[in-house]
Amino acid sequence: MNIRQMEKRDIDEVSLLEKEIFSQPWNKNDFEESIKSKNNLYLIVESENEIIGYCGYRGISGEGYIYNVAIKKDYRGKNIGYKLMSNLIDEGKKNGIKEFILEVRQSNIVAIRLYEKLGFKIIGVRKDLYIKPIEDAFIMWL
Ligand SMILES: CC(C)(COP(=O)(O)OP(=O)(O)OC[C@H]1O[C@@H](n2cnc3c(N)ncnc32)[C@H](O)[C@@H]1OP(=O)(O)O)[C@@H](O)C(=O)NCCC(=O)NCCS
Repeated sequence: MNIRQMEKRDIDEVSLLEKEIFSQPWNKNDFEESIKSKNNLYLIVESENEIIGYCGYRGISGEGYIYNVAIKKDYRGKNIGYKLMSNLIDEGKKNGIKEFILEVRQSNIVAIRLYEKLGFKIIGVRKDLYIKPIEDAFIMWL
């Protein structure tokens, strides 16, 4: 298992995973734009040349907004998400990110537990943020 920065050549594979996993997936252009800026950081985790997960943040004035956190279904529950996110946070701190913010569906207990394990706290609710299905988001902060 290897964690490295996402590159342009990864985006086709990442976009397929994104469509598999999320009901409102980012498109290729969203990823292309996101990895271009040096304020942002996107990481992938690969195993035997297959991308099995990714996550990233967009950095604005020392704040990192985390938008995508995903591990391929067969590889979940093996601590890979935790390692990947820990890596993102450590690298972000080196790049001057002092606070991380993310939003998560209130029913997504697995992700909430992962974020709590990393030290995130729930600081608010965003009403009806999600569609397909409609649901409130917790805003979490580290
Ligand atoms: C959320 C997600 C990234 C977690 O990745 P993962 O690699 O499966 O998580 P890990 O194995 O690293 O587990 C880390 C922690 O998450 C929590 N967790 C993981 N699986 C869990 C489960 N089935 N039930 C409850 N908590 C769970 C635990 O706190 C775990 O720590 P522990 O093992 O010490 O108890 C992954 O499930 C996923 O891709 N889900 C679909 C996409 C998604 O919902 N992304 C988040 C959008 S905000």
